[in-house]
Formats: sequence, C-alpha cells, structure tokens
Amino acid sequence: MLSAAEQDRLTRVGPGTPMGTLLRYYWYPILASVELPAGAAREVRLLGEDLAVFRDPDGRLGLLARYCPHRGASLGYGLANSAGLACPYHGWTFDRTGACVQMPAENANGRLLERAAIVAYGVEEMGGLIFAYLGPAPAPLLPRYDLFLWEGVLRDVGRAQLPCNWLQIMENSVDPVHVEYLHGHHLQVQLGEEAGASHYSRKHEKIGFDLFEFGIIKRRQLVGGSESDDDWRVGHPLIFPVTLRVGSQGQHRFQIRVPVDDVTTMHYWYSCYLPPTGKRAPAQEFVPLYEVPWRDEQGNFRVDFVDGGDIMAWVSQGAIADRSREMLVSSDRGIVLLRKLLSDQLERVQRGEDPMGVIRDPEQNSSISFAQEHNKLGGSAQFLRRAMDISHARFSPIREQVLAMLED
Ligand code: FES
Ligand SMILES: [Fe+2]
Repeated sequence: MLSAAEQDRLTRVGPGTPMGTLLRYYWYPILASVELPAGAAREVRLLGEDLAVFRDPDGRLGLLARYCPHRGASLGYGLANSAGLACPYHGWTFDRTGACVQMPAENANGRLLERAAIVAYGVEEMGGLIFAYLGPAPAPLLPRYDLFLWEGVLRDVGRAQLPCNWLQIMENSVDPVHVEYLHGHHLQVQLGEEAGASHYSRKHEKIGFDLFEFGIIKRRQLVGGSESDDDWRVGHPLIFPVTLRVGSQGQHRFQIRVPVDDVTTMHYWYSCYLPPTGKRAPAQEFVPLYEVPWRDEQGNFRVDFVDGGDIMAWVSQGAIADRSREMLVSSDRGIVLLRKLLSDQLERVQRGEDPMGVIRDPEQNSSISFAQEHNKLGGSAQFLRRAMDISHARFSPIREQVLAMLED
C-alpha cells in the first residue's frame, strides 16, 4: 500500500517531478523508422512533453519542442528541408540544434533569429526504431541492446497506445504468477479446449528475483519442474526502467513501455525471430510496424489473446492504479522489490549520480546481451509455434513468413 504522496513520487513523469527527472536519464523509442521517411515530420509526445521529430532530405534526424515560437503552430506538420524543419504556418525554419535559421516573411536580423530559438533534444536510430533523449547534457549513449543489433533474423514491431500509467505495466513484469490464471485459465476459457493456452496454467512452485547490473532477473519454478529448468536457472530480465526481455526458443522480444505522460503509455513489442539451425532468415528491407488491436467493435477489451489479457488487466486498474487501496500478498514481492529499486534510483539521482543502466563508456556499449529462457514454461517447439497464434504476434504482417521459417 502506498500513500498518495508516495504514489505520485513513483508514477508521475512530467518535467521537474522526481520520477520524471529519473526517467529522463534514459532513451525511449518514439516512432518506428518506417514512419518517418526523408523530408517528413511527425508529432510525438514523451514524458509529458509535446515534441516534433523530423528527418531531413539527407536522412538526418532532429527532435524539437513542438510549438513554434512565432504563434504556436505545430512543427509536427512542418516540412523538413536541408536547412531544418520549416513551420507549416509561415515557414520559420529551425535546424537540428533548435536555432531559428529562416523567417521567410521577415527581413530577419541575427537578434530576431536568436530570440526565436527553441529547445532541441537527442534523437538517434537503431534496429528500426527512432529513440529520443530528453534528459540533462551530456546525453548518455543509446544502449546497444542485443536484439537491436542481431543480423540474420526476422524482425517486427507491434505497438499499442494504452490509456494508463507506465508503472502498473512494469509492475506486471515482476508478477510471474498472473501467468497461470490470466494467460492459463482465463484465456483457456475464452478460447476453448483446443487452444493450447492451458500450457500457461501450470502452478508456480516458487518465484525468485535477483538484482543485476541492468535491473531484475525474474525466475520461476513450476510444479513438476526443478531448479535446473530454464525458467529458474536462466529466467528473464526486467531491464530498468521500462523494458521487459521475454520470449522463448527462437523468439526474442523486448516489451518497451514508453511513458507518454502520466496516464498514457506507448507499448512496443520488438521481436526477433531466429531461423532454426541450418536455415537462413529471409532478407528484410525494413522492420515492419503493426498495431496490436486491444478493443473490439463495442469498445470492450479483447481478451482472446495473451497480450490482450495483459492490456485488460493494466488498463482496467485505472489511469493511475490506486495503490492506497491495494492489498499486497506474498506473491507480490516482486512488486515491492521494483518499488524499492525505483526509490533507490531516485535517491541516486538526487545525490547527483547516474542511475543504473546509464551507459557512457563506448567499450561497454559495443553490444549488451541479456539471457532469456529457451524452454519457457518447460515448453516444446510445438507449443512455441502455437504461441504465435495466441499472442500479439498473430497480428504481425510477417507472421506467415515466421511460421514458414520455423518449419523444420
Ligand atoms: S506559427 Fe510558425 S511560422 Fe508562424
Ligand atoms: Fe502477462
């Protein structure tokens, strides 16, 4: 249970808030690369700030505060040219540092241009995603996590904008036992006996959590299993602060929960599919993006796939889950640990130190690998193919291609 003040401290992400200050030490995806062709601009929102991102005709990215200092039009509808981003209203143009370089209808002198400068932020691209950094200078390195770098794999990016705070989604990532009820029993009831979801419903014998350099390793041992199973021996990590690494044999995934503002989270499912030994993945010209549909035509939650169930749970907890009314029990100890970790990192930042996982050493950043179970839930390859049908992956535009690659 948390007091209202404790809850605000852990959930609110706007500029100047304690958590907003901590979260600004990290990079976040704001768009898929395919959404921003050369010459285009888009509106984005991150950590409660309205922004405009653009790609100039030479392919260089820029990220600026969204509203034009002239009379406030959105630069997200501007035109990107070789000088920078031109406001759609009167063409005032801002370069990638935020300097105003043109005022087409004015005979502008240097002082006038100088007064019109706007805020610019860090923006970089990797693995088919565009990442932003809004924090203090100097910006840390964009972490080169393994899945963004792998070659010879198939990739896709699923996405859903969810009307709830980021923290209740991250708390779900340290709640292993929800799998047996929500993804096991509840999903089985929706899908019927043939669905194969019952594989998820094996009971947990024990759960474990270990802190490591980048966050928390989660472990589980299922009834009938042992500590030598991948589920316990390897587990999978919560990568601080907003990423879950999850998957199984041949399927490796980041679930990235981007805090758009206090009550909105952009959820990314970034997947890599590995070819079986002796096979090659077909070449991909770009990483495709797809929307994960989580409401039906009546506006109800879709609970007929694994991630739809998760989304129902997260969003139905409320825009910001009210933790003054919760009733934590022993199987919630991962959640207690995550809140403690967040508090510890808040204190680190208040002391003027970098929080965990912030990378400034290029050598450390050549590639950062994370371990993840292969035989998840003691699963067989057959079960894993089935998982393609009952998870968000069923909406992927490359689903058939992935299934064909997995065929022996
Ligand atoms: S409002 Fe942007 S140029 Fe006028
Ligand atoms: Fe889940």
